Amino acid sequence: MDSSLTSREHTSIFQTYKRLPVEIDRAEGCRIYAKDGTVYLDFLAGIAVNALGHGHPRIIDAVCEQAHKYMHVSNYFYQEPQVKLAEKLKEISGFDRVYFCNSGSEAFESAVKLSRKWGNPQGKTEIIGFYGGFHGRTYAPLSVMDRPLYKDGMEPFLPNNRVLPYNDCDALREAVSSNTCAVALEFIQGEGGVTSATPEFVETIEELRREFGFLLIADEVQAGGGRTGTFYGYQHHDIKPDIVTMAKAIGGGLPLGAMLAHEDVAQVWKSGMHGTTYGGNALSCVAGLVVMEELENGVMDNVNKVGEYLKNQLLKVQKEFPNVILELRGKGMMQGIVVNGEALPYVTALLSRGVIANATSVNVIRLLPPLTITNGDVDEFIGHLREVIAQ
Ligand SMILES: Cc1ncc(COP(=O)(O)O)c(C=O)c1O
Repeated sequence: MDSSLTSREHTSIFQTYKRLPVEIDRAEGCRIYAKDGTVYLDFLAGIAVNALGHGHPRIIDAVCEQAHKYMHVSNYFYQEPQVKLAEKLKEISGFDRVYFCNSGSEAFESAVKLSRKWGNPQGKTEIIGFYGGFHGRTYAPLSVMDRPLYKDGMEPFLPNNRVLPYNDCDALREAVSSNTCAVALEFIQGEGGVTSATPEFVETIEELRREFGFLLIADEVQAGGGRTGTFYGYQHHDIKPDIVTMAKAIGGGLPLGAMLAHEDVAQVWKSGMHGTTYGGNALSCVAGLVVMEELENGVMDNVNKVGEYLKNQLLKVQKEFPNVILELRGKGMMQGIVVNGEALPYVTALLSRGVIANATSVNVIRLLPPLTITNGDVDEFIGHLREVIAQ
């Protein structure tokens, strides 16, 4: 690692990120090539962004071709790439309308604003989120999250929001009323330790939604886009949200966020009520379209096939080291290995062996590989994991 780059970064950039001691040269597929010659197996995929891996040739071609036509013209104009991607997302998801933005935070921000616009005339003002949820770093997401590290000293947050224990049916029953505007959750919490909503919790949400008529917002920024073996994480349950937020995978490596909603909710926004300069940027949209097409042309099948293999191999390691691996969580290509103690030393040891994974929620090793990995890549990962644990 070039120490001059480290010190230049330290003196020139806000120190808000803890960076790994790796300087990237280039990346391809599920490999990252560092400047010092180390080749890393990437089981993080830019935090669930690079669904097709790095440098996918179809994404590169689509982006280059579009760049030669135009990159940005603003939302004053009709743009084929935006409309094509919106149509594809509608077709895959069954929602009626898509609002494009640039990030997961912005998609969630949009969902909160849309919900309030829908709820205010009916006197429904309260938005409910859950402990362990992560929806982004702007004020609307933070207002329905617990995380003191991200919030302390940055008060005041939005009024009329509540944060409740996740998977606690009684707490939810007690909190919901005719004043509830929306309930927002990740059906599989990513930053919250790859924790899934229980079937009872989802049933309770649905029962209360029918009784009180609030909107259900599914944050699918991390779990969505095919990562868990279904297009959305909520599709592991028998429920259909009113609003879904997406980002990460849908831009194929370029910044893109989206909010999808049904017509009866979407129609409360009229011209000029919300918007953003870059939302639905042409380059991001053509890249996203390739991701959607590849998901349909075999990548989703790969998530299920290789995801199951990954889970089975992890189960074997757990059997070998039951005192170290306490629990396995997650689905498809979103797996959490709950370890006895802190996850960070394991992640650091993996990195020193050329494997990139991530620690979250203190004791969870989180795996978010590209959706295109093979059984061979899994074997390689498992070999390193086994040796790291044995040490
Ligand atoms: C579930 C979820 N929602 C929202 C966000 C925020 O997305 P962004 O960092 O693109 O603003 C994230 C980011 O990790 C996320 O995992």
